Amino acid sequence: MCGIVGGVTDKNITPLLLEGLNRLEYRGYDSSGLIVLSQKNSFDRARSVGKVSNLEKNLKLRNKEINGNIGIAHTRWATHGEPSSRNAHPHISKNTVSVVHNGIIENYIELKNSQIRQGYEFKSETDTEVIAHSIDLEMNSCTSLVESVQKAVKSLQGSYGIGVISSKYPDQIIAARKGSPLLIGIGENGNYIASDQMALLSTTKKFIYLEEGDIAEVKLDKVTIYDLNGKIVNRPAQESKLKAGQANKGNFDHFMQKEIFEQPQAIRDTLESRITNNSVISSSFGHQADEIFRSITQIQIVACGTSYNAGLVAKYWMEDIAKIPCNVEIASEYRYRRPIILDQTLFIALSQSGETADTLEALKIAKKLNNTLKSLCITNSPESSLTRLSDLTFLTHAGPEIGVASTKAFTTQLVSLALLLCAIGKLKGSISKMQESEIVSGLKKLPGLINETLLQEKQIMHLAKRFKNNSSALFLGRGTMHAIAMEGALKLKEISYIHAEAYPAGELKHGPIALIDKNMPVIAIAPNDELLEKLKSNLQEVKSRGSQMIVFEDESSKVQSMDAMEVIQITSNLGRITAPIIFTIPLQLLSYHVALEKGTDVDKPRNLAKSVTVE
Ligand code: G6P
Repeated sequence: MCGIVGGVTDKNITPLLLEGLNRLEYRGYDSSGLIVLSQKNSFDRARSVGKVSNLEKNLKLRNKEINGNIGIAHTRWATHGEPSSRNAHPHISKNTVSVVHNGIIENYIELKNSQIRQGYEFKSETDTEVIAHSIDLEMNSCTSLVESVQKAVKSLQGSYGIGVISSKYPDQIIAARKGSPLLIGIGENGNYIASDQMALLSTTKKFIYLEEGDIAEVKLDKVTIYDLNGKIVNRPAQESKLKAGQANKGNFDHFMQKEIFEQPQAIRDTLESRITNNSVISSSFGHQADEIFRSITQIQIVACGTSYNAGLVAKYWMEDIAKIPCNVEIASEYRYRRPIILDQTLFIALSQSGETADTLEALKIAKKLNNTLKSLCITNSPESSLTRLSDLTFLTHAGPEIGVASTKAFTTQLVSLALLLCAIGKLKGSISKMQESEIVSGLKKLPGLINETLLQEKQIMHLAKRFKNNSSALFLGRGTMHAIAMEGALKLKEISYIHAEAYPAGELKHGPIALIDKNMPVIAIAPNDELLEKLKSNLQEVKSRGSQMIVFEDESSKVQSMDAMEVIQITSNLGRITAPIIFTIPLQLLSYHVALEKGTDVDKPRNLAKSVTVE
């Protein structure tokens, strides 16, 4: 999930490359680099380990500016080879070809061995360097750069989005994609390439989305696109509705903190124009939504990370309330296990970014396995790859989420899934008007309830101080709260680097209880629901083994506080739909404050990326 940006312009390209890299940093920040063809048609390259700001510092320290009209740049999330300057992109072959790459070349060892035999020298441990050498090799027998790239990519197995420049063809960039996103930006003073339109929004709003196997020749005043078979094709440019405005932290210390506090507004925005008189407007899922929802007999949700946890909550809702069978699966498993997909299945791809490679691939495979499949994507990214592949699209309207650890995207996904629950249940006759009205009025109360819950921050800060020296934690919940416990454990792992696991509280006795002692804190979620008494018994089992406990409860749950047990009351009388959303908030705050105590990089935790566009 590296980020690529590049361009051919009539002015110095370096500032545009740096701005693009900063905007693409959410795709990875292990290292970054750029290369420009100077006036003398020679390469001028800079690479640095760590964030883009390090590359900027590195450029300032140079006594000569990097200046030229053509360049490509890259921000890396390491797959092959440690994060280091020599593994950072762009890579160069024989001073004639330079490449930036997002994706994974699976047969790189085989290609590397053959290229070494042909006299190529490898300067990095990456899989990307073979692409540069393959193109250089093809240039010996081809009459254009595009032809060399067309031939070179034939030998590549795996996924790629690449940008290529050559000192022999100083007027063009070649862009090629298979399995990794890449688009062309059409500007007034030049043309550009990028993995995501965010990188180019302050330069252009006109984009051409490359299709699988496309190769584009990008020049100052012309873009030519060749399809998989080498035929020139016309791919129309589309006008983006996104705004360039750089997100800022306002009065907050971190994006994650800001995004936690933005949840009331984000949920208002998700609900806006989707409900009328306590009833869900089912056509907000798309024109064909009514017809599709009436016809389906089961649901398959596929997602990764936090989005997967949201899917788990929806499974309980869909089966219990809308009475429709619902399965949830991690996309990286689903895509490889040849699932049986029954007719009349609604496939839901759940993804904040709409670009997660495993989720996209799972959808493509599901469509191949059953061509009657109907698909819906629930995403926060209006012009993402998932929206282009799905029959129906529902946007979560959370606004840009910059913090790598997902917060408002998760709660708005839950709200979107609750709206979907009503739309499907209503059309299938399994949810009455009254039930729907109760659910919707509950959803409308969420912004106020979240604001109330956020007032617990001080108390949670206090808990976080005690927590920071722990090396592990166990999160417990039952029903939908098991999914929320999973999300709480994931948040803690992601940003505080404390090992955390979540268990359904009833499963504790089948193994994890062996871990419990005074060094294993347990965080339990105790809403006042039909499983409360069972959960209370589980808490006794934990308590009697000496654990330090934190219990987040509904005011009416009345969990009895004991020694070494802190009970924090959230709010009262939450319903089946509102409870999982509200109980998420203290867990987000807890992991945020533990991370602050530990001094980790909250918004850009180590080894992670916001959008994972490689498998
Ligand atoms: C990455 C992010 C997670 C996110 C997951 C799925 O791992 O760090 O926060 O939940 O990808 O992303 P998606 O965009 O598909 O929801």
